[in-house]
Amino acid sequence: RRENKRRAEKVEAAEPRNKLPSPASLLPTDPALYSGPFPFYGRPSELGCFSLDAQRQYHGDAQALRYYSPPPTNDQGPHFDLRDGYPDRYQPRDEEVQEGLDHLLRWLLDHGGKLEGGPGWLAGAIVTWRGHLTKLLTTPYEQQEGWQLAASRFQGTLYLSEVETPAARAQRLARPPLLRELMYMGYKFEQYMCADKPGSSPDPSGEVNTNVAFCSVLRSRLGNHRLLFSGEVDCTDPRAPSTQPPACYVELKTSKEMHRPGHWRSFYRHKLLKWWAQSFLLGVPNVVAGFRNPEGFVCSLKTFPTMEMFEYVRNDRDGWNPSVCMNFCATFLSFAQNTVVQDDPRLVHLFSWEPGSPVTVSKHRDAPYAFLPTWYVEAMTQ
Ligand code: A3P
Ligand code: MG
Ligand code: MG
Repeated sequence: RRENKRRAEKVEAAEPRNKLPSPASLLPTDPALYSGPFPFYGRPSELGCFSLDAQRQYHGDAQALRYYSPPPTNDQGPHFDLRDGYPDRYQPRDEEVQEGLDHLLRWLLDHGGKLEGGPGWLAGAIVTWRGHLTKLLTTPYEQQEGWQLAASRFQGTLYLSEVETPAARAQRLARPPLLRELMYMGYKFEQYMCADKPGSSPDPSGEVNTNVAFCSVLRSRLGNHRLLFSGEVDCTDPRAPSTQPPACYVELKTSKEMHRPGHWRSFYRHKLLKWWAQSFLLGVPNVVAGFRNPEGFVCSLKTFPTMEMFEYVRNDRDGWNPSVCMNFCATFLSFAQNTVVQDDPRLVHLFSWEPGSPVTVSKHRDAPYAFLPTWYVEAMTQ
């Protein structure tokens, strides 16, 4: 009990709750500072959804939702060639287009007025992508990649939108051919595992077009922070015990086939953390992994229930802790709420983080950092 209290005090100390932050204020990210009890996280409830088509055009419906359709389990197991169709049947999304929160804002324009809790609910909420929250959750353990999050307050709501770091941009532009193919393989796996209609079978003969996406829009609460966020969902399982989203959703992942206990250890420490953070936030109960051999074939599948992932590292000194992830995220959100005081869609506080350092803040106006589009601001001001 005393240990827990000591931990809680540490988090308290890290959280600049009552201090008026100055632009020079810093937020530490060391795991030891955030190991208090697990904070409140509400069960995410789906408010709606939208789809992006093969041309990356927005549709306010579930047309891009696919249906989980694993191979029959009676025979020898799958033999999915993940390299099939590369590069001739590949339509990769244009990564030069930085979409920011645009698709989610489009959904909000159409539905924001009819939210449960009234217009006041949105005014007190944080709006962002699930993927941005995933990065916050894993920050205390991340040792490779930094991030930048732009924040603006508008009509009370705090909007958070990721900015590609110069290092990430350089890496993307110099992405080695093998990595490009590996990215394709992740999407190809989805095609082997999903059907376009419930009850039909996957069709791996078509193209892989990564413009296409189905996104769920959800609300939840972390500590005292109301959240409205959207995340891309791989598929829904028509046979899931609960047909109610997000409980029917399935996340698909590929990973290297492992043969030694050391490989599994490292997989639990690093990859499973990212898988957990991504699926836990959205309330996706299961992650189905396809393990690929050196030739690029998936020959085995394994389902990882999201709520059981922590068990693989619970007794590992070098493992991760869900409480640390969630406490850090809650503390960052408080830090952002306290920093971004002025209500102005053209004003941006840029939160920057590099592994081994605390989170820093800088202030900017208009281009290139402002991210709330005029069409959104004007429509909301009517
Ligand atoms: P895998 O993760 O199975 O390799 P998601 O799993 O989030 O649905 O993403 C689908 C696929 O997009 C991934 O499949 C991977 O191929 C690619 N992808 C997603 N995020 C990526 C990233 N940060 N860098 C490279 N590829 C990524
Ligand atoms: Mg996906
Ligand atoms: Mg996936």
